[in-house]
Order: sequence, then C-alpha cells, then structure tokens
Amino acid sequence: MSDTSMDANGRNRTVTLTDNATGRTFELPVLSGSTGPDVIDVRSLYSDTNFFTFDPGYTSTGSCESAITFIDGDAGVLLYRGYPIMDLAANADFMEVCYLLLYGDLPNSDQKRKFEHDITYHTMLHAQMNKFYEGFRRDSHPMAVMVGVVGALSAFYHDSTDITNPRHRMVASYRLIAKMPSIAAWAYKYAIGQPFIYPRNELKFSENFLHMLFANPCENYKVNPVLAKAMDRILILHADHEQNASTSTVRLAGSSGANPFACIAAGIASLWGPAHGGANEAVLKMLEEIGDVSRVPEYIKRAKDKDDPFRLMGFGHRVYRNYDPRAKIMRETCHEVLQELDVGDEPLLELSMELERIALEDDYFVEKKLYPNVDFYSGIIFKAMGIPTSMFTVLFAVARTVGWVAQWNEMIEDPTQKIGRPRQLYTGPTQRKFKPLAQRI
Ligand code: SDX
Repeated sequence: MSDTSMDANGRNRTVTLTDNATGRTFELPVLSGSTGPDVIDVRSLYSDTNFFTFDPGYTSTGSCESAITFIDGDAGVLLYRGYPIMDLAANADFMEVCYLLLYGDLPNSDQKRKFEHDITYHTMLHAQMNKFYEGFRRDSHPMAVMVGVVGALSAFYHDSTDITNPRHRMVASYRLIAKMPSIAAWAYKYAIGQPFIYPRNELKFSENFLHMLFANPCENYKVNPVLAKAMDRILILHADHEQNASTSTVRLAGSSGANPFACIAAGIASLWGPAHGGANEAVLKMLEEIGDVSRVPEYIKRAKDKDDPFRLMGFGHRVYRNYDPRAKIMRETCHEVLQELDVGDEPLLELSMELERIALEDDYFVEKKLYPNVDFYSGIIFKAMGIPTSMFTVLFAVARTVGWVAQWNEMIEDPTQKIGRPRQLYTGPTQRKFKPLAQRI
C-alpha cells in the first residue's frame, strides 16, 4: 500500500500550490510507493481549491495504486510482481507468470499443477459459441471477431458475473485466460475456412494454442517445441504492462461495475489501435512498404518530418526512454525462430535490423529517446510462424488477458475504488438564448 511521504524532519511531506491571482496557498500531501516516483495526492484539490488538474493523455497522472507491474522507463526495467522480465522470460513459463500476476507470487509445484489443470479444463468453448463466428464475414478483421465473441461470453457465463463475489471473479478470470487462445484460434480458422480445432487437455498452454491454430482434421499435427517455447516466451513478454491504454480501458469499464467479459472486450477494442497493440501489425505493413534497405533513409526522413503523419511503427514509447527490455528478448527470440524455421535470411529481418541500426544512430531518435518497443520484432516472428498479419494483435490480446484480469481484480478489491469519472477544461460556448428555426439564417 502507499504511504504518506515524510520529509527530512519526519513530518508529513507536502507540496504547496500558490495561486498568484489571489495569493492563496494550498498544501497537497505527497504519497510514496515501494519504488518509483512519489505522487502528489490531488483527490481533494477540486473540493479545496475549485481547480481541476489538466493532463490529456495522462502523461503525468497516476490513475491508481497497483502492486502488479513496475516500469522504470529511463532504466528500461520491467518487473512483474518484483521479478525482472528477463528472469521470467528465461526461467518461467506462461502459466507460472499468469499465477504470479494473479496471486502476487510464483507458484510452488502443487500450486502450479492445480492452476494449470484448472486453466486447461476451462479452455473449451460452449458449443453454441460457433454461431457467433458465422455472423461475421470470412474476411472480417479477427480483432473485430475477438471484441464480439469475448463480449458475448457474458451471455453464456452468468454464473461468474457477480463482481462482488471473489469466487465469481476468479472463475471469470480463469475462463478468460483459458478461452482466449480457443477464441483466437477459431477466429483464424474461420477466416481461412478450416474447421475449428478443439483444445487438447494433454497439451501445455502454448502448445495447445499452436495446435488449435495449425492442426487440421486430416492429419496428425506435431507442435514444434522450439516454436511452442517461443510462443510461451512471447506471451510472457506481453502479459502485463502497468496502466497502458487497454489496461486503463479495462479498469475504467470495470469501475462502473460492468461484468468482466464486457471489460475485457473493451480492452481488446483499445488494444486494436495502431498506436498500441495494433503496432505489431503496422510494423510488418511498414516493413513491407519500405521493401528494401535502400529505402530506409527515405522513411527515416519521413518519420522525422512534422508535416508527414508517418511514424516509425514499433519505435517509441510513452514510458520507455530507453530500450524496451521486451524488445531485446523479442530480438533474440526472432533469431531463434528464424533459425529453427531455416528462414535466417528473411529479408524483413535484415530490413528491420538495418532500420533499427540507422534509427538508433540518428540524432532525431536519439534526442527524442525513441527506441524499438515490444512490437518491433513480434510481427517478423509471427510471420515466420505462418501467422497472418491480421492475427498479430489477436496474439497480443491472448497474452494481455491475464494482465487485464489481474488489474481488474486489483481494482475491484481496492477499498478506495470508485467509478472513474474525469472532468474537463471546457472551451465551448457559454450559455446562450435558444434561437427559433425561423431566425436561423
Ligand atoms: C505498445 O503503454 C504501453 O505500455 C503500451 C505497450 C504495452 O505493453 O501495453 O508497451 C504496447 O503500445 C507499444 C507502443 C506501440 N506503438 C507504436 O510502435 C506506434 C509508434 N509509436 C508512436 O506512435 C509513439 O511512440 C507512442 C504512441 C508509442 C508513444 O507516444 P507518446 O508517448 O504520446 O509520445 P509522443 O507521440 O508525444 O512523441 C514524442 C515525440 C513527438 O515529437 P515532438 O512532437 O515532441 O516533436 O516523439 C515523436 C513524436 O512525433 N515520435 C515519433 C515516434 N514516436 C514518437 N516520431 C517518429 N516515429 C515514432 N514512432
């Protein structure tokens, strides 16, 4: 929990605001967490001063207390419940990380065994869910299918939508984590006109996901263990990331008391944006548009041109002003996958490496601290695995579901939680007299 910050003399630390129009001063308490920047507690600001704070995009605003994920953007550090992402990616599997994010610590053997069993036995979808897919065109973007089908889960699972009931919350959380790979794989199968493949209870989470994506009823499908390990690591890297846009969407939706399935559907919708989770799809489209290393300088120039809306997709981050630690691991994974699939000379990889090299040497990117982010390499890996570009953000959503449900549970369990309802700086017309139609020329 947060604590009131103390000054050098052991007094409660405050900051003082002075309104130079009236000379009034206001004391605001400073709160400290376990690490990271302290916060100025402005909860009483409006009632005490009649001022709102103003922070579009929340660049300087902490929206909640959380004990789940910590990011130090300057140092390029990412911790899940205190464990560095590099250690988790190297030593844990996705199920252990899911348990960690949900419960606050890594599971012991018995806890892991039971958690994996419980998740495995929630991977099947209600047989009627098929009908939802048939309502979509085959060429629908799979993220549209995900938003629709995940939102529709609340029409099936009434027995886990009472958000005040901890057991309901955990059952809904397990169902969401477990069913997302099935829903995602079925969205892909529907798009390519192949029959849905059911999960297999003898397979591990990531093996099951690849099996449902690529198996078909006409032959036995053996999951490549190198690809399963790569997928598992990619899911770990994308599992949670503090109060990003989609997680904040889930929290805001959940703050009204909406059921968890509707909240996660809202998170999926937010993740879809190219500035957020949709960037992995946009990176691949950008690389394909650039096409050749010789054209990289032209696109670097465009990315720097204020009058050109083009941005280098997969570069930059609101928090990281250093290399995204996940991007480093993704880069290594990319080389492993391409080597395993014998596509080490993948032109897009060569192009991405050259683009990264040039950008990291360019003053514009250096000054603005724009480094590759988690989305920069994921698209190349997924493409090499045979996953279509339109499915890239779907895979991100499969991974991020555990982060969303962990943050949603934390919000519901927060005793200070209330409905999120920001205010505004109004710049529209002040009150004016109604003008009858006859007078409107
Ligand atoms: C994810 O929040 C999270 O944690 C998200 C995420 C997660 O795990 O949940 O990490 C996942 O969303 C990663 C980000 C994926 N998005 C992209 O790769 C899209 C390309 N990146 C940009 O759109 C941008 O960098 C953002 C959206 C990621 C961050 O935008 P900010 O923090 O609002 O920064 P900004 O737009 O104010 O940019 C600061 C400056 C601007 O120049 P100035 O106005 O100061 O002159 O840097 C420039 C921008 O023009 N800039 C870029 C750039 N990103 C920022 N210029 C060229 N190419 C880019 N990619």
